[in-house]
Amino acid sequence: MKIAVVHGANLRLLGRREPEVYGTDTLDDVNRLIADLGQELGVEIETFQSNHEGELIDFIDEASGRADGFVINPGAFTHTSIALRDALVGVDRPFVEVHLSNTAGRERFRRHSYLSPVAAGVVYGFGVQSYLLGLRGLVARISG
Ligand code: DQA
Repeated sequence: MKIAVVHGANLRLLGRREPEVYGTDTLDDVNRLIADLGQELGVEIETFQSNHEGELIDFIDEASGRADGFVINPGAFTHTSIALRDALVGVDRPFVEVHLSNTAGRERFRRHSYLSPVAAGVVYGFGVQSYLLGLRGLVARISG
């Protein structure tokens, strides 16, 4: 099984970006923890980050040829991007939406997600653990 983990806008700033909200782990730290869990679960992991909506969409399209599912933290595109939602629905692979912070308890504009209604599941508020819980859930879902 292969899972693609996608990080959207501004997630390469992790570690120095609002650490009181997003924690102090860098994106490399997060990817390392994801890779470790992938190994434990016997799942191949590919990670990708972009600040550009179109690049995320192109990646989802390309990776869908080799990935069985996606774990995605779209960053702010969560709240704005119908195109990203259409891409994920279009490639017909299950995906889990994850967020480091508890988006439901923050500003009003973060409470709406274009992706949640079409996701296999959503995990938010657990910091880096959101990715790991999301990955576990997705693998269990795909393994059926
Ligand atoms: C985020 C939450 C989003 O609202 C924000 O725009 C981000 C990070 C999170 O992981 O908590 O960039 O997706």
